[in-house]
Amino acid sequence: MSERQPQRTADGSLTLMSERYGETYASLHGALAQSRTVFLQGSGSHVHPAPRVLEIGFGLGLNFRTTLHNASGRGAALTCHAYEAFPISAALLTELAAGETHPLWLEMLDTWDAGVRAGHLELERGSHRLRLDFADATLAPLPPNWASAVYLDGFSPGKNPEVWTPEFLARLAHSLSPGGVLATYSAAGAVRRGLAAAGLQVEKRRGLVGKREFLVARKE
Ligand SMILES: C[S@@+](CC[C@H](N)C(=O)[O-])C[C@H]1O[C@@H](n2cnc3c(N)ncnc32)[C@H](O)[C@@H]1O
Repeated sequence: MSERQPQRTADGSLTLMSERYGETYASLHGALAQSRTVFLQGSGSHVHPAPRVLEIGFGLGLNFRTTLHNASGRGAALTCHAYEAFPISAALLTELAAGETHPLWLEMLDTWDAGVRAGHLELERGSHRLRLDFADATLAPLPPNWASAVYLDGFSPGKNPEVWTPEFLARLAHSLSPGGVLATYSAAGAVRRGLAAAGLQVEKRRGLVGKREFLVARKE
């Protein structure tokens, strides 16, 4: 399957096969369902008055769009700070998010190439903000005590191990504000133990997506 060929998932939303990692960017059981269940609702961002989201792996921007639409729909402010080490093209993003008309997304597409060249992108529309760093998140200085939600959405621990190490999980925990929640689709034992070792209260939840379990981890 070519990296250029979007794939339709079970709920009708699109995803992509990454040739670099040999995995799809989201669950084939439903990319949008996974985004809503695991990341938006799992982290509590859907009810937070002004979510501040730190995302590891901006990828196709699906989690960002899901969270942006939720915040826009209920009049909540949103700040999203995302990292992406291997950005795909603006043309492919456009194809994958066909029909997306949110002005912040369209502005992101317009400035994508310049942002990739500069290494970052910073956009603001009303009370909605996006900061995107085109960099390896494991080498970046993450903001301490900042995020109401961390979306840990790298490829699987087997394929993309550097974003699942105990050291990096501890850094992500440090970037959560008190009461903040890290959400991730992986329920692997090593991830659970790493999050607990970082001092988070870890809870396994059953997802709608393929009945797979996922993790939410709260900072007290
Ligand atoms: C599963 S996909 C993310 C899907 C995305 N969250 C979305 O909503 O479309 C994983 C992403 O993490 C990125 N990635 C992997 N390792 C990374 C790293 N060390 N730093 C930043 N991004 C990384 C990959 O390039 C890929 O785009």
